Amino acid sequence: MNIKDRINELIDYINKASYEYYILDNPTITDQEYDDYYNELLSLEEKYPEFKREDSPTNRVGGDVLDKFEKVTHEHPMLSFDDIFNNEEIILFDERVRKTVSNPYYTLEPKMDGLSGSLIYENGILVRGATRGDGVTGEDITNNVKTIKSIPLKLTENINIEVRGEIYMSKIAFEKANIERRKNNESEFANPRNAAAGSVRQLDSKITAKRNLDFMAYFIPNPEDYGLKTQSESLEYLKKLGFVTNYKLNKRAKNINEIINYIEDLSEKRKNLPYNIDGVVLKVDNLEDEKKLGFTSRVPRWGIAYKFPAEEVLTTLKEIKFTVGRTGKITPNAIFSPVHVDGSLVSKATLHNSDYCIDKDVRIGDTISIRKAGDVIPEVVEVKLERRKKNSIPFKMINNCPICNSKLVKKDANYFCLNDNCAAKYIESLIHFVSRDAMYIEGFGDRIIEDFYNMNYLKNIDDFYTLYKYKDELKTLEGFGEKSIENLLKSIENSKKNSLERLLFGLGIRHVGKKTAKILSMYYKTMDNLINADFEELKSITDIGSIIAQSIVDYFKNDKNINLINRLKELDVNMRYTGLDIDSSNNKINGKTFVITGTLSVPREKIKEKLESLGANVTGSVTKKTDYVIIGEKAGSKLDKAKQLNIKIINEDEYNSMIQN
Ligand code: IVH
Repeated sequence: MNIKDRINELIDYINKASYEYYILDNPTITDQEYDDYYNELLSLEEKYPEFKREDSPTNRVGGDVLDKFEKVTHEHPMLSFDDIFNNEEIILFDERVRKTVSNPYYTLEPKMDGLSGSLIYENGILVRGATRGDGVTGEDITNNVKTIKSIPLKLTENINIEVRGEIYMSKIAFEKANIERRKNNESEFANPRNAAAGSVRQLDSKITAKRNLDFMAYFIPNPEDYGLKTQSESLEYLKKLGFVTNYKLNKRAKNINEIINYIEDLSEKRKNLPYNIDGVVLKVDNLEDEKKLGFTSRVPRWGIAYKFPAEEVLTTLKEIKFTVGRTGKITPNAIFSPVHVDGSLVSKATLHNSDYCIDKDVRIGDTISIRKAGDVIPEVVEVKLERRKKNSIPFKMINNCPICNSKLVKKDANYFCLNDNCAAKYIESLIHFVSRDAMYIEGFGDRIIEDFYNMNYLKNIDDFYTLYKYKDELKTLEGFGEKSIENLLKSIENSKKNSLERLLFGLGIRHVGKKTAKILSMYYKTMDNLINADFEELKSITDIGSIIAQSIVDYFKNDKNINLINRLKELDVNMRYTGLDIDSSNNKINGKTFVITGTLSVPREKIKEKLESLGANVTGSVTKKTDYVIIGEKAGSKLDKAKQLNIKIINEDEYNSMIQN
């Protein structure tokens, strides 16, 4: 046999063995045989690199170290489901579905606790892996996903397809990774999800390869293109293509009883599974039914994520420590003996504000119960009064800022430090500016920002963009090398190109969260447009209420803020919304405001995306500023409002011919 054929044969043996091991759970060769094939392949490929194939299992060891992750735009937005937490909400979901679909079937799937990933195959070969990112744009993690052994490098069919699933770390891999980290004196991962997230975002894929991540496939964004009629068929098809699916635990259900029984059963089994799950995902099985249900402005209506109740754990309160946020808000925090909550080790939880402490009557030395609130921040749920020690001292709010000692002022339930020059506020706003959902400047931990602040390199947000002037000086600082400063400066430089919403969120305007920043950027497109917006106009935008509108107006009234924006402009920081490449050539659409209502043949989200890519604004309510209302079946009050205001109403066909223009 010639070399090329032998290489091909070895690849086939090894890929077959992996398939049997990972997918069929039924290995047919021993580990020794596997290693022998692998080593033979490796040495042949080294000698004859011209015969090395894209889908060779030797590609799984990781490749070159990257400077940064490239951004990728998802062809189909990567949405997630709304979360629900109890049986009543499941019943409500089912009732809502039944308004549109008679006798729905659901698929019930364990909700894997990792991070979602998208894989793209061309002619059956894995060509790209990406993180979800903000759902529209993610990061290219191709090198890293190639190291995940349960991800096929080649499918059983030579097709083009996008596959979504969860990248996760098993409980065993997590334990092993932490043993390794302890050995190397590194801080341990808090839980398998953090460990998976940290491993998948490694610029050096050789590190990812060592972490033993896994992938569970659960979704094809365009199933109809493969002749699939149900989600169950999608799952079957994914398995056939060579993916690991949860086929032993995924089920079909036709009523509430079956759903509730499944959840109860799974919450029992949960402890013994080899990976963490945090709930159950329910999806309407029939894809035609899914289409009928469509999407809200954010999420699909045809599915929901039921989350298991958060675990509550008892511990002892050692100290109440006050911190100052970037708005000057003072937060009391409970510091306690470290405990494991939902898989992470925690030693600190929020006590929200002084009223909360007084209501709960928390006292140092008390036994308290801790729970993870929402996803991350733990909170103190309850004080076990029956276990209270005698002589405990009631909570007392502090009168002065713990950082600058200014007198605190109470507004509603919260106390604030009003000193504009309080170091804590500056440091917090700098930390916020670089954070993941804001400008996402990698390499800046909280500690570095604090140190740079204290050493006078960073005082204001715009100082990030002049930091390069101190490059030589910074390189000499203890704990920094040439490379780390170069990388830091490079990420600062890259952040200049960010789309407007990141900057807006990063500025820390009160009440402007990540979602509001996105809405404002999509609506106004440039910072200058937003600066010139008045209260009434802001308030007319869907999801912007008067409190947010006022806060924005106040922010831009302040010269200090306008000066900051001008300095950032001079430093070349982008002030435009670039989330989508806008094609402004269709003047029937560019700059016009649309409202979409009723059921259409394509999800409204898709139409919205298309219109926005042609330069339109798509809003949720009909006002006199609306230019067109696109109506589908069962259009209700928005249609009435459009008629009342004499706004042009168009149907789906008219919309289609309009976008052809
Ligand atoms: S389907 C349109 N199936 O939980 C939503 N998601 O909100 C498509 N997840 O962000 C996702 N297990 O990361 C789906 N069996 C499963 C899942 C699952 C875990 C995650 C996913 C998503 C969130 C659901």
